Amino acid sequence: MRYEQIEQAVSFIRRKTSFEPEVAIILGSGLGGLTDEIEEESTIPYHDIPHFPESTVAGHKGQLVFGRLNGVSVVTMAGRFHYYEGYSLRQVTFPVRVMKALGAKLLIASNAAGSVNPDHEVGDLVFIKDHINLMPDNPLRGPNDERLGPRFPDMLNTYSKELMAKALAIAEEKGFRAHQGVYAALQGPNFETPAEYIWLHRIGADLAGMSTVPEVLVARHMGMDVIAASVVTDVGYPPERIKHTSHEEVVHMAEQAGKKLGVVIRELLAALA
Ligand code: HPA
Repeated sequence: MRYEQIEQAVSFIRRKTSFEPEVAIILGSGLGGLTDEIEEESTIPYHDIPHFPESTVAGHKGQLVFGRLNGVSVVTMAGRFHYYEGYSLRQVTFPVRVMKALGAKLLIASNAAGSVNPDHEVGDLVFIKDHINLMPDNPLRGPNDERLGPRFPDMLNTYSKELMAKALAIAEEKGFRAHQGVYAALQGPNFETPAEYIWLHRIGADLAGMSTVPEVLVARHMGMDVIAASVVTDVGYPPERIKHTSHEEVVHMAEQAGKKLGVVIRELLAALA
């Protein structure tokens, strides 16, 4: 059924546009501003596309934007789906399957995250070098369709070292504070308790968030290259640094610092073009 659903979504999109994206971009909370920079070819609201869930979160727009960004053909998700919205991780990651089927070979994922690294500050960019999946589900659970990828995908080189090095070099050249880090994915929707932030720090995480890992697992399952970045919107470690956190603050901070990430993504694409 799953494969047929992908085909149905793709054939619907193909009736609207013949655009062939090379790169898929997922813009996280507050990071949708990058879509303004795209030379737009076609925009399709999620609710029109067969089998696409609907985005329910404030700060997420809910549309696929096709076009060119610095000369590269991209499809951008302005707004993603989250496990905490009640979707299964198969639903959450369905758009990644579709974007790959449309032609995308590289996934650029972004998110807003809390930092549990004492050297990070709000507004920093952190390129994800590895992750810890603490979500209670996995998008690859259940029957495996070999046409999409293997039953037991390897996760050794999940995040492209080469692209990350390029992204870090761009950030440095622009004078942005940027790091590499390990992202821990939690189900949310609550932010973590002080004890949980301490625990995340101890198990080797630098970042805590509620997204990205499901999409990355599915992208790697299908053999896509992946680069992912977090914008630090709040700090959770050490406990003295924790402040009250709200979704509005997270979106606001992401909008501020997201502009820097937008610059890095554009330059990275220019280097790929
Ligand atoms: N924890 C989890 N998810 C988040 C956070 C956080 O502190 N900040 C932004 N998204």
